[in-house]
Amino acid sequence: LINAFVHDGTAATVTLESVLPWLFLGFAVTIVEALAPLTARFCTDRLHDDVNIRITSDVLAHAEQLEPIFFEDPHNRNLLDRAQQSPADRFMRFIAEAQNSLTHILQTVFLAAILIVIEPLIVLVLAPFALPYLFFHWRLSKRRYDEEYRRTPQRRWTGYFVSLLTGRESLAEVRLLNLSPFLRGKFRDLMTRFRDIDRALYWRSFTGSSLFALVTTVAFYLIFVRVIINVINGILTVGDIAVFGAATSRLRFSLELAIRSLSGALEQTLYIANLIEFFRQKPAPRKASGTLQPACRGEIRMKNVSFAYPGSAAAALRDVSLHVRAGETLAIVGENGAGKTTLVKLIARLYEPDSGSIEFDGIDAGALSTAYLQKHIGFVFQDFARYEATAGENIAYGDWERLIGRQEDLEEIARIAGIDKLISAMPAGYHTQLGRLFGKHDLSRGQWQKLAIARAFARDAAVLILDEPAASLSVQAEYELFCRFRELSRGRTTILISHRFSTLSIADRIVVLDKGAVVECGTHQELIARAGLYARLYRLHRHPLKSMAADKDSRKIVPLK
Ligand SMILES: Nc1ncnc2c1ncn2[C@@H]1O[C@H](COP(=O)(O)OP(=O)(O)O)[C@@H](O)[C@H]1O
Ligand SMILES: [Mg+2]
Repeated sequence: LINAFVHDGTAATVTLESVLPWLFLGFAVTIVEALAPLTARFCTDRLHDDVNIRITSDVLAHAEQLEPIFFEDPHNRNLLDRAQQSPADRFMRFIAEAQNSLTHILQTVFLAAILIVIEPLIVLVLAPFALPYLFFHWRLSKRRYDEEYRRTPQRRWTGYFVSLLTGRESLAEVRLLNLSPFLRGKFRDLMTRFRDIDRALYWRSFTGSSLFALVTTVAFYLIFVRVIINVINGILTVGDIAVFGAATSRLRFSLELAIRSLSGALEQTLYIANLIEFFRQKPAPRKASGTLQPACRGEIRMKNVSFAYPGSAAAALRDVSLHVRAGETLAIVGENGAGKTTLVKLIARLYEPDSGSIEFDGIDAGALSTAYLQKHIGFVFQDFARYEATAGENIAYGDWERLIGRQEDLEEIARIAGIDKLISAMPAGYHTQLGRLFGKHDLSRGQWQKLAIARAFARDAAVLILDEPAASLSVQAEYELFCRFRELSRGRTTILISHRFSTLSIADRIVVLDKGAVVECGTHQELIARAGLYARLYRLHRHPLKSMAADKDSRKIVPLK
């Protein structure tokens, strides 16, 4: 257009008809240019939400497939953490960067094509700088990613400090101990370490990009001078100067953006690979559950079962053999850390034995469907959950598919478990939202434990496992629970872990665990007669002061000054 004006000298010789197609083309390009980014933005915003829902729920669904033991391993927690770090954003950024790089590459090629016609030397400038610059950016992206990958455990530490400092569970103790400045210091140390590493990377990016900008600008300028000389010599036109001047700066810019977005897109693929790495985690083949679903009678047999927590040097259970008859009440006693909780978690198939076998009704657990089996187990966990839900839901979760919204059934269970009065006295009865994250009403630990017990009874289970169910209960509440116990455990196999000898009298048999091994087994009378560990523990319980006098070790205890 410019050349048309300039060549013909005056505007009069250029008719409107002759420039109309050019004007129209320019108009169309401008409209597309204005609307395309907005349209793209609209589409990606919409897509982002869909992708987000899809990926986050897929991550959770996949996590559900993995064995509980997977979550005990810090290495696996890193995998999970990386998979959960804004995965949808990574996808969307990949799409955006890929889109950008395509746009900028096309723009670069297009501008280069125009400029080559005017000055072929431009290619000589483009090629030697563009490739190393792309390499530089890719290296930088990779370093950023590697750093982020390495950082996951420390990131988890920062998250942990935040939860300690602001979480309800720890807040009171942290305040009283005045731990806040100390923990905040640790948090800050980590964050400043991240910042310092990031600063070095920012500096690298800045210096590299500046160098590229400087070198290419100088090179383009030299070529520009050559173009001017060519115009003076009449080889090129004035229109060429205008086009060349405008196009070179745009070319430099779009080349820079093309390279940045290309390496940006590649960087996102690294993060997406993290997600794939998590999805690749499969339950080990031997841990896959079978499909058999026989009627559960509740007979359990453990044969030479050993188990160690991953990464732990000592075995939590060593060569444990145990037979629990259908309908029997078996008590497990032992010191803290003897392996009682581990044992019952293995029975509930939450962990898989390292060696040995567990049979239910004579069928190897591996052949049974784990989901089916677990449906038939009622479990009061030692560290029971306190669901931020209504009181009714806290019970219904014991068998939610059957009980959610079944008010009458819930009341019946609460009555049997002896907590109907407790719930009725709450501000909104069964509909009282419990816990202080979302509600106004909280319970004492003992009251929560009563709910956990009711939840276990909500299941129509053949096997009932109670792991220190009275640990937080008052003497009165414990008494009431065990008065009901006969009724509650009728027709069920019950395994009861308890430190309170008063409650052990309801057991048909007692198993004594010590350092992960079964050391004694029998009725209360039999075990007393054996005069072994059980008898010693019982003596301690009955006559703590007398035992202290007899125990030589206790004399070594000196009062603190
Ligand atoms: N999640 C775990 N990871 C590693 N070791 C554990 C874990 N849970 C328990 N242990 C260890 O296993 C042993 C048995 O623990 P546990 O079964 O909880 O004992 P108990 O219930 O008899 O007090 C202990 O030595 C304890 O340190
Ligand atoms: Mg325990």
